[in-house]
This record gives sequence, C-alpha cells and structure tokens, in this order.
Amino acid sequence: MATYLILGANRGIGLQLAKQLGERGEQVIAVCRHGSDELSALPARVIDGVELTDSDSLLNLQQQLADLQIDVLVHVAGILRGDDLDSLSLEQMRQHFEVNTLAPLASLKALRGNLAAGSKVFILSSRVGSIADNSSGGNYAYRVSKTAVNMVGVNLAHDLKPYGISVHLLHPGYVQTDMTGHRGNLAADESAAGLIEQMDRLGLEDAGTFWHASGEQLEW
Ligand SMILES: NC(=O)c1ccc[n+]([C@@H]2O[C@H](COP(=O)([O-])OP(=O)(O)OC[C@H]3O[C@@H](n4cnc5c(N)ncnc54)[C@H](OP(=O)(O)O)[C@@H]3O)[C@@H](O)[C@H]2O)c1
Repeated sequence: MATYLILGANRGIGLQLAKQLGERGEQVIAVCRHGSDELSALPARVIDGVELTDSDSLLNLQQQLADLQIDVLVHVAGILRGDDLDSLSLEQMRQHFEVNTLAPLASLKALRGNLAAGSKVFILSSRVGSIADNSSGGNYAYRVSKTAVNMVGVNLAHDLKPYGISVHLLHPGYVQTDMTGHRGNLAADESAAGLIEQMDRLGLEDAGTFWHASGEQLEW
C-alpha cells in the first residue's frame, strides 16, 4: 500500500483518481476546497478547506500532514475559462496563472519535506499547453498557464532527481467533466484509469517527461 496525496479531489478527474486508488487499497489523502458526498463515500482521508493559491492554506496543509511520507503526489486542480483574442482579459490570465501554474509549484514547495527517495510527483497539465501541438490558437489564459506549468514540472524534475524524486506532466485526454461542460471523448473514470497506469509505470528514469493518459508521449 502506497500513500497518494491528491490535490483537487472533490469532483472530476481528481475524484475518480481518489476512488480507483482507494478501491485498489492505496492510502488516499484527498485534498479539496469543499468536500462532496461522492468523496465522503470513498475510503480516503479527506482534508478540506484547502485553497491551493493561498500560502496560509498551504502552510496549514503542511502542518496537518506533519511527518507523513507521500509516495505519490498528484496535482489535479485547475481552471479553464475559454477566451479568444477579442475576449481575453489580463485579470483572467493572472487567475489561470495562479491556479494552473503557481499553485502546483507552491504546493510542491510546501510539501517537499513529505517526499523522499522513490516518491513520484505528477502534475495534470494539458496538451493544450503544448506549443508543438498548437494548431488552432485561442484559449490564451489556459494555454499559457499550462505551457508555463510544463516548465515548472521540468525544472522541478531536474532539481529533485538528485534526491530520488521524479516529476512528470500528464494530459488526461479530453474528458467529460465540469471543466469541459461534460463534452469530451473519455469519461472521467476512463481517464483516471489511464492516468493511474502511467503513474504506476513512470519512474525516475522518465523524470521531466509529458504523457497522455493513453500512454503516448507528448511533445512540448
Ligand atoms: N477535462 C479535460 O478534458 C481536461 C483536459 C486536459 C487537462 N485537464 C486538466 O485536468 C485537471 C482536472 O480537470 P477536471 O476536468 O477534473 O476539472 P474540474 O472537474 O473542473 O475540477 C477541477 C478541480 O480543481 C479544483 N480547483 C480549482 N481551483 C482550485 C483552487 N484554487 N484551489 C483548490 N482547488 C481548486 C476544483 O475544486 P472546486 O470544486 O473547489 O472548484 C476541482 O476539484 C485540471 O488541471 C485540468 O486543467 C482536463
């Protein structure tokens, strides 16, 4: 049994990760802003009230976890508000940067002491943040924040590899959740199953790489 910490676990892909990992007997710590009935029903320790963009909130989470060793840390939380060249706002871009880019870095920094040699970190990014894959434009706030978190992940991978800690970026596919208005070609449980396969498979030798839940390696 390994200890998984999931940041953003009350709904969507994070909830399905918590469910499937709990069902296979892992120790799951499910972190969220607000609990949900579905989450309470799972075999997981729920820590709610955690706003990932707030440093006091992260400090409080750090204190609640104390000396607990985390084997797998999964940063799932993210936001998407669509925009285009006409509608984009810099304020909205800053919000995306706070949640999608800075929160994964700040949470890792807060919980670094809970990781040890052999621990793995996964950040849910998006292929929409891939520069090589961008063939359509639009979605400025989301794209830029996810491109930036890819750099956060690769940088962390370099800095933590000497300590035996691996960091990876994952794309869950186009998934039917609140984020996509329940459009997409994968149900959240199918995406979570694919993500778990990648999390099981990837290790230190693959640190700093970017993978689709399907197992396809993605370009930056
Ligand atoms: N769905 C897709 O097709 C797709 C594709 C590519 C990448 N992704 C990425 O996959 C991840 C999960 O997406 P999803 O589809 O499951 O989204 P979702 O259903 O909209 O869920 C988003 C999760 O993030 C949490 N969250 C947002 N802002 C937060 C904050 N400031 N502090 C703490 N928690 C916060 C939400 O909590 P609250 O309930 O408190 O808001 C919720 O648990 C995201 O990073 C997303 O960008 C999704």
